Amino acid sequence: MPAPGSQFDRKTLFLRACRGEATDRAPVWIMRQAGRYLPEYRAVRAKHSFLEVCKTPSLAVEVSLQPYQALGMDAVIVFSDILIPAEAMGLPIHFGDGGPELPEKIRARGDVDRLRDFDPERDTRFLLDAISELCRSLGPEVPVLGFAGAPWTLACYMVDGGGHAGFPHSKRMLRAQPELMHQFLRRIAHNTARYLQAQLAAGAAAVQLFDTWAGELSLHDYDAFALPALQQLLAELKPGDAPVIYYSRASNHLLESAARTGATVLSVDWRVDLRQLRASLVERTGRLWPLQGNVDPAVLYSPETAIEAAARDALAQTSGRAHVLNLGHGILPDVEVHAARTFIQAGQKRLHDLPAEAPAGAPVSTGTP
Ligand code: CP3
Repeated sequence: MPAPGSQFDRKTLFLRACRGEATDRAPVWIMRQAGRYLPEYRAVRAKHSFLEVCKTPSLAVEVSLQPYQALGMDAVIVFSDILIPAEAMGLPIHFGDGGPELPEKIRARGDVDRLRDFDPERDTRFLLDAISELCRSLGPEVPVLGFAGAPWTLACYMVDGGGHAGFPHSKRMLRAQPELMHQFLRRIAHNTARYLQAQLAAGAAAVQLFDTWAGELSLHDYDAFALPALQQLLAELKPGDAPVIYYSRASNHLLESAARTGATVLSVDWRVDLRQLRASLVERTGRLWPLQGNVDPAVLYSPETAIEAAARDALAQTSGRAHVLNLGHGILPDVEVHAARTFIQAGQKRLHDLPAEAPAGAPVSTGTP
């Protein structure tokens, strides 16, 4: 069945956009689309803890499908968390109201040495089962996305023990024990490669790496620490035909390096001008980079017309070519469902079917002669 507004089914549309092939419109989904803004998600969470949902395939499948059933996006991301592999490597994780907490932190060489290389098939079976069940219930025409944290971002949580502003302990390790940080990032990269391989083998059509905290690093430190770990991860992953989407946040200063990770698609936040990014990547690399993003999640607090305008503006920056429309970061937990629906429905129109806005400075027609 074709996706709304397209001659292609959702999976074909999504894969074509990720590969830079021609599409009749851009596919659209939302990072963190299964979450608290949906009343049906809150209803499941009222009965089950966050980790219980992650680790019970039937519940993970149920909440992964909720946004698709309510809003009909073009891709379904499996419900999980970037910290699941941290636990599989041996660090207990807790999710409280203040976000994730890891009481046993990585601070010294012995802590890195004690980490386990986990077996995704055995230790994260629940996730692989959720992916295969999603693929079964959605059929071959809807792409299921797997994901993991990027090495630097996962290291930040494992060293600081949670989402602490500025990640001071991670930065201390990077400065005071650079070799240890390199070794740690290599361990994460190795484990993440196998973890993503297993997700692709379970049926994921593409995988995304979340580098939420890339922007904490200077270009110099990104190139020295984060980039080689990503390159190792991609080299070990060998994704074949499957697209790898690399999301980085607050990373305008890093994007030319991000293009050297080996990922297929660059996903950026709202601070980036997609038109300029595409032009500069064409200039530097000689090729048209598939891009994902990048509407400010706070736009979903706006009236409908402004949400539609923001979707159209993002698409206009790429002419809708080789573009997976998305927000620039995860959807905020308190937006209205109808705002998310407006975004998805606008995104599923062809660019020329979206109402055009008068160019800045142009006289506004009053409708009277
Ligand atoms: O996109 C999806 O719908 C799949 C689900 C998904 C979750 N976390 C579920 C979740 C994905 C892709 C993630 C990734 C993730 N997790 C990231 C990278 C993306 C980003 O948002 O920056 C990060 C940094 C984490 C770590 C994490 N998990 C934090 C910081 C928090 C607390 C903040 C918050 O939103 O509550 C979580 C918890 C979490 N992960 C929730 C969900 C739906 C909320 C938990 C709840 O239901 O109470």
